[in-house]
Amino acid sequence: MDNILKTEKLINGLKGEIIIPPDKSISHRALIFGALTNSKIKIKNLSKGEDCVSTLKILEKLGVKYQFISEHDLILDSTEGLSAKEKVTLNCNNSGTSARLLSGLFSRCDFSCVLIGDNSLSKRPMKRIIEPLELMGAKIKSNDNKLPLEIQGTDLKAITYYSPISSAQVKSALILAGLGVDEPTRIYEKTLSRNHSEIMLSYLGADIKTGCDKEGYFVEVKKSKLTPKDIEIAGDISSAAFFMVAGAIVPNSEIIIKNVGINPTRTGILDVFKQAEINFSILNERTVSNELVGDIQVRYTKNIKPFEIKGDLIPRLIDEIPILAVLAAQAKGTSTISDAQDLRNKESDRIKTIAEAFLTLGIDIAEKPDGFIINGQNNINKSAVLETYLDHRLAMSYYVLSLINSSKMEIQGFNCVNTSFPEFLKLMNELK
Ligand code: S3P
Repeated sequence: MDNILKTEKLINGLKGEIIIPPDKSISHRALIFGALTNSKIKIKNLSKGEDCVSTLKILEKLGVKYQFISEHDLILDSTEGLSAKEKVTLNCNNSGTSARLLSGLFSRCDFSCVLIGDNSLSKRPMKRIIEPLELMGAKIKSNDNKLPLEIQGTDLKAITYYSPISSAQVKSALILAGLGVDEPTRIYEKTLSRNHSEIMLSYLGADIKTGCDKEGYFVEVKKSKLTPKDIEIAGDISSAAFFMVAGAIVPNSEIIIKNVGINPTRTGILDVFKQAEINFSILNERTVSNELVGDIQVRYTKNIKPFEIKGDLIPRLIDEIPILAVLAAQAKGTSTISDAQDLRNKESDRIKTIAEAFLTLGIDIAEKPDGFIINGQNNINKSAVLETYLDHRLAMSYYVLSLINSSKMEIQGFNCVNTSFPEFLKLMNELK
């Protein structure tokens, strides 16, 4: 794949069926929790995006063995447990999920390590995990609350933590720390962020409780032995999102995206599709390793209604906001996205980068501290060179935008899609 992608408008629409690749969030968790079973398990349908490979390579450096038995299925062998002889440097590359989740785990292991990452990850905030982990007794040295993190494993104590942000990475880091402590650790969040860790841990027989009381949503964990079980991973709704929006906005499209994880903590995009009156349906609902899965059918929708994204909806679609901004650009009226200030801490400052790209294309967008206001318009006809800032979700969102741009576009740094979705262009081409 060339690192500058030249694109052009798609006339005939997207048609057909694709199987969406494995969910990245669930893949990270399958590897990490799988590595805590101290046995051999099979993981079916693992993401091979670079982020999940970073987690796998880190576990390998700590003594976990693996063997791929087909393209996406592997045997994970953690019979020897996790260990390191001396302080070991572990590279998370671009993956915030690896850095944050593994910090929680390594805080209670009996070795020392240094977590490093690429330029983008090294700029992202780690205080959100360092602070609560230190309350549990973790020994972490950081570069002003950023990577590299030097973690000296130690015995932790249980806490009850009221998380100021609803973040699945923070919650999962604390779950991984609490899983090694005799007393229960309880984590509260105001709105429920993705609950894949909770679902997978209860699937593996951990001592875990979830609920909701007057303080908010909580999860409580304590020291648990995990039952070795094979884990199958659903398709990634955050990857499906690009095809769902493309199907809705490119005239003449009618597509089915198969095997998509539709866990309600991830389906904020479906709520937005309802608001926007997109023509879609969910077929063939089932569960896979306790996660809800379905096939999503989307048809081109001529009259897309404007929509509002805020509050409780944000954690349920945080990664989909770039592509939903593209949808807003095609809605008939004004859409608003607010309460999404954490977008500034993603692989790029997504509020700034999206506003910049949309203005370059002549789309009416106003940047706000916590989101945007977008006045949709029917015709986009402006040739432009868009910069991805190596943010994979921007690259794919701009690609979808290019399918309805009557003028040619160039996307700089398009290769960054490999961090999450190496199969993206191949699947798009299958539908053309
Ligand atoms: C993720 C949680 C989200 C999401 C990220 C993956 C996870 O981050 O943006 O892509 O797997 O736990 P936050 O927890 O920072 O919202």
